[in-house]
Amino acid sequence: MSRSAELADLIRTRAGSAPVQFGLILGSGLGALADQVQGTAIDYADLPGFPHAGVTGHAPRLMIGDLEGVRVAAFGGRAHYYETGNAGAMRLPLEVLKALGAGGLIATNAAGSLRADLCPGDLMLLDDHINFSGLNPLIGEPTDRRFVPMTAAHDPGLRARLRAAAEAEGIPLPEGVYAWYSGPSFETPAEIRAISRLGADAVGMSTVPEVILARFLGLKVAAISIITNMAAGLSDEKISHEHTMAMAPMGAAKLERVLRRMLRDVAAPLPG
Ligand code: HPA
Repeated sequence: MSRSAELADLIRTRAGSAPVQFGLILGSGLGALADQVQGTAIDYADLPGFPHAGVTGHAPRLMIGDLEGVRVAAFGGRAHYYETGNAGAMRLPLEVLKALGAGGLIATNAAGSLRADLCPGDLMLLDDHINFSGLNPLIGEPTDRRFVPMTAAHDPGLRARLRAAAEAEGIPLPEGVYAWYSGPSFETPAEIRAISRLGADAVGMSTVPEVILARFLGLKVAAISIITNMAAGLSDEKISHEHTMAMAPMGAAKLERVLRRMLRDVAAPLPG
């Protein structure tokens, strides 16, 4: 049996066997939403092969249970490339998510803004991304499944659901392009000018590997950024991890409402 199948069995033994519908990767500042899932918490430490996800502000555990009438698997904390140098660090968790029956994944992150109309505390729905790191979580995958198409990788149907949920909540949810920068150092102002010319609206250190892995596994995926700062050189504010962590809750409250609303709509779809 594969490792992901074994872990899915272990999780079902502890959390019940009903299939999971959605996975949620909860980034900086969204740990509180994981706590609102009614179900079973499993520490990553109890799931052999799961990453340590050691960044401050991320609680490394998996919550399996009900959120707004939908069975979800919420990853409170993710592994980043910059922690270990492994771009595929989230592969096993996402394989397990797939093995638990999920069809969709929503990823969240904190990001810096490259656009004057995207301010700290705002949300941005990713309509596409730029892999500015040049890394790829599928390097080393031996099968031809590695040649994953990335056209419409950010699922149009899921994005429409998220936009509708945001509109119903009265929360602006502009779309934009997210550039993945490896981190852990922040970007230089010259890098930000370069990324901006390449077409990015926001920049961050996560999510793109997960989107690639999700498509590889056949999961529909969408992602939302919480803008925590203007990117390097675009404002006088000092950029730091502490600042990111301090600003994330502003957007997190809105993002929680959008996600809850979307799940409620999934549980009880409106006619038509
Ligand atoms: N750059 C990269 N990652 C980030 C930023 C940023 O400005 N803000 C939050 N995460």
